[in-house]
Amino acid sequence: MASPPPSAAPARLVVLVSGSGTNLQALLDAIGDDPEGYGAQVVAVGADRHGTAGIERAERAGLPTFVCRVGDHATREDWDAALTGAVAEHRPDLVVSAGFMKIVGKEFLAAFGGRIVNTHPALLPSFPGAHGVRDALAYGVKVTGCTVHFVDDGVDTGPIIAQGVVEVTEEDTAEGEAALHERIKEVERKLLVEAVRRLARDGYRIEGRKVHLGHVGE
Ligand code: GAR
Repeated sequence: MASPPPSAAPARLVVLVSGSGTNLQALLDAIGDDPEGYGAQVVAVGADRHGTAGIERAERAGLPTFVCRVGDHATREDWDAALTGAVAEHRPDLVVSAGFMKIVGKEFLAAFGGRIVNTHPALLPSFPGAHGVRDALAYGVKVTGCTVHFVDDGVDTGPIIAQGVVEVTEEDTAEGEAALHERIKEVERKLLVEAVRRLARDGYRIEGRKVHLGHVGE
């Protein structure tokens, strides 16, 4: 699967968040007032809950926002269909799941498969799921990090785009998950900004588990 050839117009990003939205902010800061230079622009931000700092950041940036809550729908499939519709309205080239704590369903994958980028706070395939930082710390690893990857129908199992490594120190072991997560997020924000830049500007090809950046059409 390959992305369309990069065009002069910046790629359209819809970003999904559930929490503080610092990865979203890193994208907004990198794009600044030069979406052509970066190669992408955020066209909308969605969340799965009300009252997130991520949505506030989007509002401050003057971006359209939407909230799509599982609890407002009769079934998980209905929620997935509603989320798919809300995202599709903004005609994204890429959907960026930046701290979005929900697993998307079949309809979402059918609409945007191969174009959904997720960031995860561990070195996949180790420690997938909602508690990647806690699980790595509990396991006693000496290095952990973050993974930017395409989303498939598994939990954090899709093809890997980029990874960043963070050492686990004695202090992390004593202070726990939050301190380590903050150090991972410092690396993660830069990794995500660079990965999205390259996907959007240079194009990409997914062959099985391998993601090739650039060289589209070769
Ligand atoms: C990030 O560390 C991201 O990897 C993680 O949530 C954090 C969101 O931070 N996502 C997951 O754990 C998904 N399984 P942010 O809201 O400040 O961008």
